[in-house]
Amino acid sequence: MNLIPHSRPLLGEEEEEAVKRVIRSGYIAQGSEVERFERKVARLSGSKAACAVCNGTTALKLSLQVLGVGKGDEVVLPDYTCTALLYAVCALQAEPRIIDISSSHLQLDAEKFQAYSSPRLKAVILPYMFGIIPGAESYRKEKVYLVEDAAQALGAEKIGRMGIALVYSFYATKMATTGEGGMVCSNDATIIERIKELREYDKKEEYSLRFNYKMTDIQAAMGVVQAGKVAGFVERRKEIQRYYDDFFLARGLAFKPGGIEEWIPYRYLIKLPPGSLDRSEKAYRAQGIEAKRPVFQLLHRYLKLPDNLYPESVKCYNSILSLPLYPALKDGEVERVVEASREIFEKKC
Ligand SMILES: Cc1ncc(COP(=O)(O)O)c(C=O)c1O
Repeated sequence: MNLIPHSRPLLGEEEEEAVKRVIRSGYIAQGSEVERFERKVARLSGSKAACAVCNGTTALKLSLQVLGVGKGDEVVLPDYTCTALLYAVCALQAEPRIIDISSSHLQLDAEKFQAYSSPRLKAVILPYMFGIIPGAESYRKEKVYLVEDAAQALGAEKIGRMGIALVYSFYATKMATTGEGGMVCSNDATIIERIKELREYDKKEEYSLRFNYKMTDIQAAMGVVQAGKVAGFVERRKEIQRYYDDFFLARGLAFKPGGIEEWIPYRYLIKLPPGSLDRSEKAYRAQGIEAKRPVFQLLHRYLKLPDNLYPESVKCYNSILSLPLYPALKDGEVERVVEASREIFEKKC
């Protein structure tokens, strides 16, 4: 029995042809394909300008850096998210302030965020985890920059409207992929210019701290094709979500976010009784299906902060499991996931 992986990219002949074209051109480093990709993603996001970089973590770090975040500044992050956010903040010697999530939509708890105040608080990163978009309006705070992290939400409509910067990742498991890659979009062209200035070290008249954060034309050529397929990818994701819903909703197992503006399903999440998650994960594995915790580890645990400060994210960490949901998933595989679920939840557990 073949394993159905938790994620798998959907790449075809168009991507292959685009990459071949760049290789044959003899110009493979950052060039016109990167510019094309930037224009395409900016258009898709309704943003005025964009800068492609080597990955999403770098896109987050550079966004904060050009906003002036540095040593001693505080940046708010939700607890239930990708560790990349923590690294982006710490790379600038800024201090992460971890805040609990709302278990109704799994995103940063807006009330707890608004209740937090500090003269050193400079920015908040709002990652749209699992493609769930809460109203960004409730995250506006005076003198605090809002960075929207849409690493898991490319293709959503209601993003990029409130934040000063909108960040993407094009890692292999994301909505569209270039293998590794990232981008910052903004309606503030000077932010993008400053990130472009920091992205490379070559041919600069004056010395200042820079690095090499560039994307190649090989990656960007793949990205241009993938970006053109995003609407179709989102449709297929929704189709699979509806199929799963038929099974899981009726059994009270589907996680459905409340109080949100939009959801493009990056993950299919099921909510299990406490204590049964590891057992269910193993049961799926025995059926040839890779199910996973959608967040590897809670940020507060990396920082050795007590669990009791983060009751909602601990609860979600212990009860939410993610099942395969991606456009490369074939109908037969979707059916296999449902059949395995029937076996696990109706016959054995
Ligand atoms: C929400 C979120 N932000 C940022 C990143 C970091 O992106 P990358 O892996 O491209 O550095 C990821 C994960 O890949 C993510 O899921």
